[in-house]
Amino acid sequence: MLSTELLALTLAALAAANPVFASTHPHEYRNVHNHGVYPISPRNYITPETKRDSYDYIIAGGGLAGLVLASRLTDDGKTTVLVLEAGDTGDDEKDKINHPGLTYFTSLLGTKYDYAYKTVEQAGAGGRSINWPRGKILGGSSAVNGMYLVRPNSGEIDAWHDLIADSSNKAYADFWTWDKLYESMKKSENFAPPTDDAQKTAGMKYKTDSHGTSGRLHATFPAYFVPMSSAWLPTLEAAGIPSSEDAYSGNNLGGFFSTMAINPTNWTRSYAKSAYIDSLPPRDNLHILANAAVTKILFADNVQDGNQVASGVQFAKDKDDTPQTVSAAKEVILAGGAVGSPQMLLVSGVGPKDVLDSANIPVKVNLPGVGQHLQDHLATGISWSTTADTQGTIYDSGSDFSKSDEFLSFVNSGTSYVNGSFLFDGDANFANLLKEAKDILGDNTKLEPLIPSKDSDVVAGYKAIYQAYVDKVLPSSGLVEILFSINSAGRITIQAALQTPLSQGRLTVNSASIFDAPVLDPQYFSHPADVVVLRQALKHIRQLATFSPLKELVGDEVSPGKDVQSDADFETYVRNSVSTEFHPGCTCAMLPKEKGGVVDASMKVYGTANLRVIDGSVFPLSMSAHLMAPIYGMAERAAEFILNPPSTSTGSSTTTSGGTQTTTTNNDTKGGKNAAVSVSGGRAVWVALASVAAGAFLCAF
Ligand SMILES: Cc1cc2nc3c(=O)[nH]c(=O)nc-3n(C[C@H](O)[C@H](O)[C@H](O)COP(=O)(O)OP(=O)(O)OC[C@H]3O[C@@H](n4cnc5c(N)ncnc54)[C@H](O)[C@@H]3O)c2cc1C
Ligand SMILES: *[C@@H]1O[C@H](CO)[C@@H](O)[C@H](O)[C@H]1NC(C)=O
Ligand SMILES: *[C@@H]1O[C@H](CO)[C@@H](O)[C@H](O)[C@H]1NC(C)=O
Ligand SMILES: *[C@@H]1O[C@H](CO)[C@@H](O)[C@H](O)[C@H]1NC(C)=O
Repeated sequence: MLSTELLALTLAALAAANPVFASTHPHEYRNVHNHGVYPISPRNYITPETKRDSYDYIIAGGGLAGLVLASRLTDDGKTTVLVLEAGDTGDDEKDKINHPGLTYFTSLLGTKYDYAYKTVEQAGAGGRSINWPRGKILGGSSAVNGMYLVRPNSGEIDAWHDLIADSSNKAYADFWTWDKLYESMKKSENFAPPTDDAQKTAGMKYKTDSHGTSGRLHATFPAYFVPMSSAWLPTLEAAGIPSSEDAYSGNNLGGFFSTMAINPTNWTRSYAKSAYIDSLPPRDNLHILANAAVTKILFADNVQDGNQVASGVQFAKDKDDTPQTVSAAKEVILAGGAVGSPQMLLVSGVGPKDVLDSANIPVKVNLPGVGQHLQDHLATGISWSTTADTQGTIYDSGSDFSKSDEFLSFVNSGTSYVNGSFLFDGDANFANLLKEAKDILGDNTKLEPLIPSKDSDVVAGYKAIYQAYVDKVLPSSGLVEILFSINSAGRITIQAALQTPLSQGRLTVNSASIFDAPVLDPQYFSHPADVVVLRQALKHIRQLATFSPLKELVGDEVSPGKDVQSDADFETYVRNSVSTEFHPGCTCAMLPKEKGGVVDASMKVYGTANLRVIDGSVFPLSMSAHLMAPIYGMAERAAEFILNPPSTSTGSSTTTSGGTQTTTTNNDTKGGKNAAVSVSGGRAVWVALASVAAGAFLCAF
C-alpha cells in the first residue's frame, strides 16, 4: 500500500537517501551535449554521390523494421544492403531522443521529424480530423515513441496464423504462431531487471525467463519511478483487476508495469538505430542514406512466371530534387510502416485498380488489398486534479534531481489489459455483445456499409478478420488497455485504449507523388461495438478513483467531469475525445490473395517475384499490445528466412505462395535505369501539416 509519508518526502530527501538518484555518469552524458568525448559517429552513412549502383537488398524505410533488417542481413559481412530513409538521421536531436522522459516535454512530434498526418474527417469521432504522427527519421517511429515494450496475447498471434495457414505456403505460415513470435521477440531483446529503487516504488512483477538477454534492443524499467506509481497495482487489485505475475509469455491480462525500450547502462532510449546500427562497428556492406525518400519501385521489363520483378527504386530528397536510381540485385524490401509501405506500393502502380485509375497511376499489379483492412487503437481517458507530485511537477521544479539521467528516464509504464467480462460486469453481458457482433457479421445489409471496398476479395478478407476477432480474439483477449498517465503537473489521467477494433478503414492516394500525403480514412467507430467497449472502459476508470490508494491522491475530476453520467453521455464524450494510440496497421495485410491480402506468409507482395513488405503494415489483425515488440520479433524472423529460406533451396529459392509459383531471382536486373521517370507535381505536405500540436503527446504511449 502507498504510504502518505512516502509521497510527502521531498525530492531532495529522496535524492539524498538513495544513491541511485545521484547521477552515476553525468559527465559522460553531458559530453553528448558538448559534442565532446563521444563523437557523433556517422555509422554507415553515405551520400547520394558515394552510393553504389547496385545492392543485394534495398530497404525502403530506415524505421523500426527497416533497421533490424539492415543490421541482421549484413551480419555476414558479405550481403550488401542499402537503406533509404526519407527523414534525417536525428543526430542533431540526440538529447531529445535519448532522454526517455523528454519524450513528453520536448517531443519531436510536430517538428520536421514527424510526418504529422491527419485523417480525413471521421464521422464516428465527432467529424474530427485526427492527428496521426509518424516518425520521419532514422529509427522511424521508434525514435519518437513512448517506448512501451508490451507483448500480445498468444491467441491473437495464433489467430493471425490461422488466417494465413490455408495458403499453401506452410513452411512460412508456421512462423506466424505465438510460439515462434515469442522466440523472435526474445531474440530481439536484452532484458535487465529493475533497479532496487524502481522495484521498491512500483512493485512490478516480472519473470526473467520470459525475456531475452542477448538481443540488440535494451529492455528494462525506468531507473526512477514517480512516488505515486506505488498506487497503481493496489488500486487495480481493489477494483478487481489482478496483478499479472508475467505479462510477457502469452497472457497479458491484468495490471503490470510495462518493460520499456531503455538502455540501463546510461538510461537512454534504446531504439532501432541505437540498438541495431550504432551498437555495431560500421560495415562496408551496409550503406544508409538519410533524406532519401523512395519515390517509386522500379520493375524490370521481363516478367517471371507472371510476376513482376523489382529491379530497384527511385529516390529523391524532396519534391524539387531530381530522382536518382539504384538497382537491387536480389530484392526490394519495403519497410515504410503502416502509412509509408502501402503508399510506396500505390504510387508504383501496385494496388486497387480503381484507386490507381483515379490518381492517374498506371496499373502494374492490380492488387485490391493494398491500403485496406486498416485498423488502429483509439484512446481517451479521465483526468483528475492532484496535489501530489507527478513527473511534470518534478520536471518543472528545475531541481538538480530533475536534470539527472535517472529522473529523465521516467516514462509512464503502469498499464493493464482487461477482458470483456470485466468491462461488461460479467460473462453474460459480454456474451450479449459478442452475440450482437456475430449477428452483424451474419447480416449482409448491416455488414456491407462497414466495409470500405466493394471488391469481393477485400470483402472476404474483412469477414475473415471479423470472424477471427469474434471467435478467437474477443472471448479471451484484452479488449482495452488501461494506462496510468502521470506526466502532467497537477493532473492524474487514466487512459483507455481500444485494442481489438471491429472497425476497419483504408488508406488511398490521390496523387502519384510520394511527397503528397496519402488519404487516411480509418473509419473510426464505424462498427457500433467499438464505442460501446470504450464507454464501458471509461465507466470502470471513473470507478478506479474511488478505490484506495488512488482515492487519496485524486482531487476533482476535471475531464470529462460529472456532467457525463449516462451511457449516451459517455459515448458522446468518447467520440469527441478519442485520439490514436499511434498503432495503425494492417494496410499491407498478410492474408490469402483471395481475401484481399497484400503479402503472403513469406511477406512477398502478390504478383511480384522479389518485393517484400516487412513492418507494422502486415499484421492482418490488431492485437492487445503496443506494436513495437511484435514488429521487432517479426523483423528478426524475416531476416532469418530471407537469408535461409525454410524450403529446400539451391541458390535461388523457390516458394509457393497462395497457389502461385514465385521465384526469387539472383539476377542483377537492368530495367532500373531505363525505367527512371522524373517525378513532378505535388507538394511537400508535411510542411503544411507540421503545425500539429506537439502537446498532443502529453498523455501518451
Ligand atoms: C507518437 C508515437 C508513440 C508510440 N508509442 C509506442 C510505444 O510506446 N510502444 C510501442 O510499442 N509502439 C509505439 N508506437 C508505435 C510504434 O512506434 C510503431 O508501431 C513502429 O515504430 C512501427 O514500425 P515500422 O517499422 O512499421 O514503421 P516506422 O518505425 O514508423 O518506420 C517507417 C520508416 O519508413 C520511412 N519511410 C516511409 N516512407 C518512406 C519512403 N517513401 N521512402 C523512404 N523512407 C520512408 C519513415 O520515414 C520511417 O522512418 C508509437 C508510435 C508513435 C508515432
Ligand atoms: C477476465 O478477467 C478476469 C479478471 O478481471 C478473470 O478473473 C477472468 O478469468 C478473465 N476471463 C477470461 C475469459 O479470460
Ligand atoms: C549509452 O550506452 C551505450 C552502450 O550500452 C552506448 O553505445 C551509447 O553511446 C550510450 N549513449 C550515450 C548517449 O551516452
Ligand atoms: C537471369 O536472366 C537471364 C537472362 O534474362 C535468364 O536467362 C535466366 O533464366 C535468369 N536467371 C534466373 C535465376 O532467373
